[in-house]
Amino acid sequence: MTATATKKGNPIKHIYAPRGGCLEVFNSREEEVLVSGPAGTGKSRACLEKLMAVCLATPNVRGLILRKTQRSLGSTALVTWRNFVIKEALQTGDVVYYGGSQQEAAQYRFKNGSTVTVGGLDNPTRIMSSEYDIVYVQEATEITITDLEFIKTRLRNWRTSFQQLIMDCNPAGDKHWLKLRCNDGVCKLIESRHEDNPRLFDAEGNVTEKGAAYIAILDNLTGVRYKRLRLGLWVSAEGIVYEEFDPAVHVLKWDYDEEGNRLPLPEEWERYWVIDFGYMHPFVLKCYAYDHEEDVIYMYREIHMTQRLVEEHASQIMSIVTRKETTKWYDHFNKVERERTEVVWIEPKPTAIICDHDAEGRKTFEKHTGLGTQRALKAVNDGIDLHKARLKTDENGDARFYLMDDALVEQDTWAREHLLPTCTEEEYATYAWKVSPDGRIQNEPVKRDDDGMDTDRYMTMHLDFKGKARVTMLDYA
Ligand SMILES: Nc1ncnc2c1ncn2[C@@H]1O[C@H](COP(=O)(O)OP(=O)(O)O)[C@@H](O)[C@H]1O
Ligand SMILES: [Mg+2]
Repeated sequence: MTATATKKGNPIKHIYAPRGGCLEVFNSREEEVLVSGPAGTGKSRACLEKLMAVCLATPNVRGLILRKTQRSLGSTALVTWRNFVIKEALQTGDVVYYGGSQQEAAQYRFKNGSTVTVGGLDNPTRIMSSEYDIVYVQEATEITITDLEFIKTRLRNWRTSFQQLIMDCNPAGDKHWLKLRCNDGVCKLIESRHEDNPRLFDAEGNVTEKGAAYIAILDNLTGVRYKRLRLGLWVSAEGIVYEEFDPAVHVLKWDYDEEGNRLPLPEEWERYWVIDFGYMHPFVLKCYAYDHEEDVIYMYREIHMTQRLVEEHASQIMSIVTRKETTKWYDHFNKVERERTEVVWIEPKPTAIICDHDAEGRKTFEKHTGLGTQRALKAVNDGIDLHKARLKTDENGDARFYLMDDALVEQDTWAREHLLPTCTEEEYATYAWKVSPDGRIQNEPVKRDDDGMDTDRYMTMHLDFKGKARVTMLDYA
């Protein structure tokens, strides 16, 4: 399949050949379509190619690329969009990027008047006030059914003969609302396979060199990640530890001011930092705010990163929470003007910094931040029980532990390329109890992809592990 656009009479050629499920995406006209499959089959590419094809074919089409958060979009779909899909059109000027204004969202503008707006559902005002012909939602398992219904009310620009919401995702649990919606026939499900992607398999179905390397990464995954990302199955993890965790409940959206800046959490809420050291395994540092009055914990910032030194993490976190302020003062004694640079905290200093028991790591972190740390209470099962109690909702649907949306400071590209969790929210979905060969669930979690899990548990333990006998405390020292 080729798409052609012209500039000063010179046709620019863009070649894309979809196969299998990806070809089906192109041919579909249903109002709601979900492309599902394991990682790397070309799902996102197919959706983006279709979006461009529709925009080129008809003038004044309005398209939209959407993800749960604006930031997550930048690191994934937009890279494929710019580097592969509209690459040639950008070079020739047939498509230009417009960065947006206070009233208007960022968008790609085609010569024929078609546009593709880009944005996140975390800050939807500018995006959702418009109408569209075709909307592409990347990683649609991350959005809520309310988001989906809202998006569908925006599909009525009617420049094209069909109005379409295309979504893609890697499979989630078999009871995920989006899968049930497909089972019910409300949404059309298209399955795509690794063989659909010519980067991984040639036209005869032989694996390419790149394909073999990629499949090897997938084969290294375990448990439910393997089943979903390698095999493309909608399966729930067996024996999930935090069954209470529901992203629709426990992940909160930020409030924004009129300029689109996040409103900070109240100053009077105490802050805590919790660290789980690691180098090959992720180093995790999370910042929490504790609303003492309501007894609710909010996790609002997360570093989740492999292969970086403790001193680098220390300087990163300090550059976020403090800034240097230089003030001039007059030295009357020597009769000269002098400057003084002070470190000023932008947000409340942590009341405590709670760490796992890596003495070397703690020493380095303390040295590079000038802040003291303390050891976490590590009792696993007590911690899990207490944390489950915090996640549990009361009769009003309120929990006592929340993650703020898009709290990740920076995405770990190594982890992403190896399809490992890049933030705590992803770990909640797969953190599971060990299962014995005869299928019995054991009373011990699988120690894998659990670094973010540990920090939340340490946080809860720090606040809630009270009233237990002193002798028990000593057991954990
Ligand atoms: N038909 C195709 N021709 C060339 N490259 C492709 C094709 N389909 C996918 N790719 C490339 O393979 C990589 C993975 O595709 P992507 O769409 O991101 O996969 P998924 O969304 O299924 O994880 C991307 O770099 C994409 O450009
Ligand atoms: Mg994708």
